[in-house]
Amino acid sequence: MLTLGIETSCDETSVAVVRDRNEILSNVILSQLIHKKFGGVVPELASREHLKAIIAVYREALQIAAVEPEQIELVAATYGPGLVGALLVGLNFGKGLAFGWNKPFVAVNHLEGHVAANFLSHKDLPEKHLTLIISGGHTSLVLVDGFGKYRVLGQTKDDAVGEAYDKIAKILGLGYPGGAEIDRLSQSGDRRYFRFPRGVMKEESFDFSYSGLKTAVALHIKALPESELDEHRADIAASFQEAAVEVLVNKTVRAVTELGIKSVTLSGGVASNSRLKELMQEKLGALGAKFYFPPPSLCTDNAAMIAAAGFMRFSIDGASPMNINAVPYAKLYNSIC
Ligand code: KG4
Ligand code: ZN
Repeated sequence: MLTLGIETSCDETSVAVVRDRNEILSNVILSQLIHKKFGGVVPELASREHLKAIIAVYREALQIAAVEPEQIELVAATYGPGLVGALLVGLNFGKGLAFGWNKPFVAVNHLEGHVAANFLSHKDLPEKHLTLIISGGHTSLVLVDGFGKYRVLGQTKDDAVGEAYDKIAKILGLGYPGGAEIDRLSQSGDRRYFRFPRGVMKEESFDFSYSGLKTAVALHIKALPESELDEHRADIAASFQEAAVEVLVNKTVRAVTELGIKSVTLSGGVASNSRLKELMQEKLGALGAKFYFPPPSLCTDNAAMIAAAGFMRFSIDGASPMNINAVPYAKLYNSIC
């Protein structure tokens, strides 16, 4: 089945054509640069930029896939979570295409899209696995028993890990979004330069907290004379990263051990992080668990993952009602215990 996927939940305008759940014919991603000068996403500007770009991005996706509109069999678009104005652009564009073409439409949860990025990337991925969804808006540890069946083991109680990366990058003068920059700068820094607090929460909990770490790093930087900040920028980045990543790895490893998990995946923008992948590989390898992650282009927001998730959702539930609305705080619901 050929699915046209549309993603506009935040600051990427993306349209893709995907066959079934793992053959990408095109995946056009336009990242909005306008937000850089504000140091974060400005919701109203995001909606306007999506409106300006969506038709050109859609045309390019069809052209690269070498597919005519009549060949598309299903239209999938993100309905939430995300910025409401941004979501509405892609959702309504998708509904309009499906209505005009008389093809089924399916609304996709963005988090299910991130989960689907691993099914899309790995044909051999076992249905049952543990996934860590880590992005600018989310930090969740989720048990997956096949697409659509989830148990959320834990999530952040305050900031998302990507949000902490972006905030610290901004304070360090590294621009927005800064996760990848911190990752790069950390490679020349000393991760033992300073031990920042690990937001472990209660020992038995799989929940996360990143606001304490964010504040501790911000206060550390504030107390440093300008010259020392210049000298230790890479060390601070590396020490922050070590604290941020260690908590993710430790909670994942504990879940693997306690629940007898055999396979683990990462998804979301922070899944591109090199130190995280290195530590996960080391610790999960020692436990004999298999470790999967998508290529960087499928970690950050993209429409190919939405098309793949749309195809799988359609196979389970059929088409969505055409009056479905954007849901800014949509969640992944527990459907297994
Ligand atoms: O999944 P995504 O594109 O958007 C959301 O759904 O939020 O994730 C974006 C987040 C940003 O916070 C960005 O700084 C972070 O992913 N990110 C990284 C890296 N690449 C992107 N964080 C750490 N290391 C990276 N290499
Ligand atoms: Zn995302």
